[in-house]
Amino acid sequence: MILVTGGTGYIGSHTVVELQNAGYEVAVIDNLSNSSEAVLPRLRAITGKEIPFYKADIRDRAALEEIFTKEKIDSVIHFAGLKAVGESVQKPWEYYENNIGGTLTLVDVMRKHGCKNIIFSSSSTVYGDPAVIPVTEETPKGTCTNPYGWTKSMLEQILSDIQRADPEWNVVLLRYFNPIGAHKSGTIGENPDGIPNNLMPYITQVAVGKLPQLSVFGNDYDTPDGTGVRDYIHVVDLAVGHVKALKKLEPGSGLNIYNLGTGVGYSVLEIVKNFEEASGQKIPYVIKGRRPGDIAMNYANADKAARELGWKAENGIREMCEDSWRWQSQNPNGYNA
Ligand code: NAD
Ligand code: WQD
Repeated sequence: MILVTGGTGYIGSHTVVELQNAGYEVAVIDNLSNSSEAVLPRLRAITGKEIPFYKADIRDRAALEEIFTKEKIDSVIHFAGLKAVGESVQKPWEYYENNIGGTLTLVDVMRKHGCKNIIFSSSSTVYGDPAVIPVTEETPKGTCTNPYGWTKSMLEQILSDIQRADPEWNVVLLRYFNPIGAHKSGTIGENPDGIPNNLMPYITQVAVGKLPQLSVFGNDYDTPDGTGVRDYIHVVDLAVGHVKALKKLEPGSGLNIYNLGTGVGYSVLEIVKNFEEASGQKIPYVIKGRRPGDIAMNYANADKAARELGWKAENGIREMCEDSWRWQSQNPNGYNA
């Protein structure tokens, strides 16, 4: 059985579907700090399978002990964490305590129960502001601009050190680029609390009439149209990447690191245009100043994942926009409807 931490969240819920579709038994732990239990019946409707759900915190050692005693957990896919960049600047202690403290407790309970296989949600943010693009896994890690990013960078180091000290551990670090889109059913998707920080949920909320217009953060970057360029990846492709990465948890696999991106960069204005075409909705926008901490451009070289995992992103920008829009238009208030 695979334990998915943060499994009611955006990427975790999509990964549960792909794991169950591939025939894996799955259990979920989530404290619901940034997700809703309402996702569970929807997951059941998609896959037709039950999911043992533990409403618990990964910092709660007793709760973890109970899960590892009750279920036969072979591997953990570890999504649980706080992820709002701006909030992490205001609340660094909370981010370090939750993300790093939580992971340390999780890993300790895992090893005590003889479970030494983990896939960790890392981020392209660990590259900082890379000198050469596209970035490969050999690109040096950089200086993060916020505590959230540092939690990812530090947890990569911590998990690598633990693996090196005890080769029974198999560790996969997956560096995600910018996940967008939703399951084709339109019944599960990203459900931001309050005003979205990320580009796509902001655009979909403008499209559905919840927000008046998009602010484009800077059009004076050194990019083809002056707006920021990112590697947007369909969340279902990302989820499938986790299923493929399970083969690097086989005994003796050691430490493996993969970029999960498409290898293609789109600017903010290209995303707006593609979304308008896919949805038929007009997205009014205004150009504003740069957002502190943003970089001009980043996209992945994802050849290593293709070579070693046999994985590559299948969905293009059209599907990403269509699927984001289907989820938002069918669920204007997310899971709170
Ligand atoms: P999400 O907030 O939707 O999911 C994270 C889940 O973890 C939530 O359901 C939340 O309730 C849960 N959680 C948080 N702290 C917990 C704790 N202490 N105990 C138990 N559950 C806890 O976020 P997501 O977008 O699905 O991201 C999943 C992971 O991927 C996160 O680690 C995130 O940092 C990482 N990541 C996300 C992105 C992105 O852009 N979405 C990019 C790179 C990396
Ligand atoms: C994308 C582009 C913005 C909102 C963040 C985290 C990163 C990772 C993914 C977790 C940028 C522009 C955005 C808006 C805009 N998360 N933008 N108006 O910043 O690339 O990455 O999420 O690990 O760590 O930093 O994603 O979606 O916020 O921004 O113009 O209202 O859209 O300036 O160029 P980002 P994003």
